[in-house]
Amino acid sequence: MFDLFSRKDPSLPQNDSHRQQEKRQEQLVKTQENYVWDLENPNVGPVPMAKDVPQDANPTLTWTIIVLKTLMPIVENLVSNVKDTAELVDIKKGVNEASDALGSLKLGQQLAFISNTTEMLKSLVEIYLRLVRAEVKEHREDEGLDAYKDLFQKIPLPAVAAAFQQNDCFARYRVAGQNPMLIKGVSSLADNFPVNETDYQKVMGLDDSLAEALAESRVFLLDYHELKVLVDNPQTPEKQVFAPIALFALPKDRKSLIPVAIQSGQNKDDSTITYAVQNNDNSSEYWQWQAAMTMVQVADGNYHELFVHLGRTHLVIEAFTIATNRCLAESHPINVLLLPHFEGTLFINNSAAGSLIAAGGPIESIFGGKIKATQNAAGTDRLGLDFYRYMLPNDLATRQVGNRDFLPDYPYRDDATLIWEAIHNWTTAYTSIYYTDDATVTEDYELAAWAESLMTEGAINGFKPITTREQLSDVLTMIIFTSSAQHAAVNFPQRSLMSFAPAVTGAIWGKDPTNIQTEKAWLQNLPPMSQSLEQLSLLQLLGGVYYRQLGEYRSNNFPYLDWFEDDRITDQGGPLSQFQASLADIEQTINIRNETRQEYSFLLPSKIPPSINI
Ligand SMILES: [Fe+2]
Repeated sequence: MFDLFSRKDPSLPQNDSHRQQEKRQEQLVKTQENYVWDLENPNVGPVPMAKDVPQDANPTLTWTIIVLKTLMPIVENLVSNVKDTAELVDIKKGVNEASDALGSLKLGQQLAFISNTTEMLKSLVEIYLRLVRAEVKEHREDEGLDAYKDLFQKIPLPAVAAAFQQNDCFARYRVAGQNPMLIKGVSSLADNFPVNETDYQKVMGLDDSLAEALAESRVFLLDYHELKVLVDNPQTPEKQVFAPIALFALPKDRKSLIPVAIQSGQNKDDSTITYAVQNNDNSSEYWQWQAAMTMVQVADGNYHELFVHLGRTHLVIEAFTIATNRCLAESHPINVLLLPHFEGTLFINNSAAGSLIAAGGPIESIFGGKIKATQNAAGTDRLGLDFYRYMLPNDLATRQVGNRDFLPDYPYRDDATLIWEAIHNWTTAYTSIYYTDDATVTEDYELAAWAESLMTEGAINGFKPITTREQLSDVLTMIIFTSSAQHAAVNFPQRSLMSFAPAVTGAIWGKDPTNIQTEKAWLQNLPPMSQSLEQLSLLQLLGGVYYRQLGEYRSNNFPYLDWFEDDRITDQGGPLSQFQASLADIEQTINIRNETRQEYSFLLPSKIPPSINI
């Protein structure tokens, strides 16, 4: 951190003296040497990234210890699952020793150690990624799903392992799963998805009809057309992704979504529509329905990781991190507000681009599209994302799911809206301390340069100059919400909802999932054990690291003192304490909600880290 300025008295550039303005400029020029745009990252293409991770953007010691502790049971679980354990046992010992040693370091030693931990962590993760490819102990074919359950030797088996074949669990993934961002209300069906009335009534009952449900806004769709590029570029004919369309409906009491039909592709002429079967009667229809649900879960695994998680949180916030450091001086109040929400992002994104989504990495191993097509799909989605359109209230309205009366059971929407409003109140109160009217916004030439940088180098689609205090507050709310709550909502389900491969995975392993008659044939479409172990090891880690929480603002530098120093922000009853109090209220509200609904805890404020750091 370039420490010329204290955070005691942040100021807008136009209000500074000439000498202060010069100092700001000098500081920015120096910071720009470390925060450099790179538009040619080999693995995410034209998506703007930081050329290198600057020294001051490396993780803290505390974060490193949390990662090591999360890694321990996963390595133990690997040891129990692979044939040759010699190297693994060594790693397990190493992880234990490193974690103990780091925890007991004295103050001075910690400071000296921080720069080394980054290298150590990088090499540990590299070895770990190599080891998850080790040969898995053999499983007999007749073990069925038990073979997948047995992979959880030292890690609790997620509850979805027992429920994922049920229709209500499949429906719940749409409103409380890893990707609650795709379900949309519709008032008509497109020509390419010819669901017929008779089959609709077989699922929903003769006293209801598709026409009636459409007219009453009780019909919802999941449409994976964006995955077309992956459909066209399968890794092999037996490892592929589909771009299905799924239809859900609410019964007349509107209680909970019911899956009705799944079409295997976008083109009706070369796709099949499968209608829901309720109970396991071991019929060919039941197993065909299971195969159709698996096809959707695989599509959703791709849509979630590539778009909703990587593209729309990690990679979007990368651009804001770079632009903020390059354009807003350290004494700028918006720099002070945002920096804690960017902690760890450049580092984790650099690791993701360099290993996770690189050729030969876990994405290629677990997912079905050719790696280049997969990388391009993620990049295209990120570059196409409209910043204002994707703001929570706008997104819910566009998808026609914002109205509680029409879709009562939507835990993500209900909890996310509370957090969005709390952040909006916080950014409004915070900015009104420094910006006294709209003119102070337009006169802020650093803010104008920041917006310009995001529109050009940052490639944030739809971004525009900021001219009012209200607009500024909306923009800051979107940035903070995406870095914290949105990322938490899509990151942490990786552990509980995505680490059991038969429930959600990245590829259909088989030639023709539209022609499945038996359980055996359905099982053959699931991933091999080694990929399933790799998936669970990776997602248990990514979905298991909780570092700090929303509303907690601390310095990045040891000993991690309170971040804000301006009394107007930190005074008792001031904006910061109001924000923290509102988060405590939301915590209570969600806990009360969880007493009367199926638990949804991904947006409990205590489980929302302030930044994307995993
Ligand atoms: Fe993440």
